[in-house]
Amino acid sequence: MRGYTSLLAGTALFALGTLPLAAGPDDDQLVINGETEIITEAAAPAHMEYVDTIYSGWRFRTDETQALELDDFDNPGMLTVDAAIEAYNTVEGSAGESCASCHGDVDSFAGFAATMPKVNEDTGKLMVMEDIVNTCRTEQMGAEAWKWSGDDMQGMVALINLQSRGEPVNVAIDGAAAPFWEQGKEIYYTRYGQLELSCANCHEDNYGNMIRADHLSQGQINGFPTYRLKQAKLISVHNRFRGCIRDTRAETFAEGSDEFRALELYVRSRGNGLSVETPAVRQ
Ligand code: HEC
Ligand code: HEC
Repeated sequence: MRGYTSLLAGTALFALGTLPLAAGPDDDQLVINGETEIITEAAAPAHMEYVDTIYSGWRFRTDETQALELDDFDNPGMLTVDAAIEAYNTVEGSAGESCASCHGDVDSFAGFAATMPKVNEDTGKLMVMEDIVNTCRTEQMGAEAWKWSGDDMQGMVALINLQSRGEPVNVAIDGAAAPFWEQGKEIYYTRYGQLELSCANCHEDNYGNMIRADHLSQGQINGFPTYRLKQAKLISVHNRFRGCIRDTRAETFAEGSDEFRALELYVRSRGNGLSVETPAVRQ
């Protein structure tokens, strides 16, 4: 851990040492529905200089919150996913198509989400899953784009990601992705807001410690879209980023902004090796 003393002196946010129970991740194992083993701990990818081991956020949650992810019948995020299965099979838009009429069974997307986000070779644009869904809706179906953080969109993204559950995240950071990745990395290490805190100050230097009432994780996104109990819905990666930046009392980037796309690629790459865990459940 790097540089937390100066941070502490500056903010006194982190209750180091005062809560002896909150020391790092727990040792629990995540097996969903008694069959899908989730990798919640792995050696950090080579590009991470300051962290040896990466952990899913699940390992930092209370037993009660963890339990909600053990069985899909208990996972409140699955309701929105079920609604997305219906939407997937429903014809919408001027072309008279449904997702299923072109793509067949949704399990044809198995493995795809583990490699997202990625750069579209034709346009050179960094695509996150929401971009792909809306491109198919507007260009293939003649339907309206969905709102970024609405249930329609996040349910569909979760449904597609779910087809890769258990598979290790493996996003490319080289080639066409490299400049986006560098941009995301820069954002990750920039200090924002009145509190002058970067993502790294909390999620790299202080994971395992308590911040107010929260047990800080590494801020991984392998489980997104995630059902957040506090918001009582599936939330997008960008919604979570916004919330975290707001907590530093800073102005923030918009959901669907290029900054958040780049940050998503970078944060995703910090989880290379952890299983896709969608839909995760968090406090
Ligand atoms: C009219 C046909 C059509 C419809 C309808 C359609 N898509 Fe697509 N979709 C495509 C095409 C074409 C591609 C690009 C394939 C490629 O680049 O190889 C694509 C790509 C994708 C991909 C990326 C998969 C990959 O392997 O590259 C996803 C995910 C996806 N669509 C989801 C959806 C969803 C969800 C819906 C419904 C909201 C939908 N699509 C509706 C034609 C369609
Ligand atoms: C002031 C400290 C702080 C800063 C700065 C901060 N976060 Fe967080 N973040 C939290 C807390 C607290 C939580 C909830 C506990 C947890 O999951 O770690 C959280 C949760 C998250 C999660 C959810 C993790 C999961 O398992 O679902 C992600 C992702 C995340 N943060 C990313 C970021 C990113 C990216 C940045 C920089 C833009 C950032 N955070 C900045 C405190 C912070």
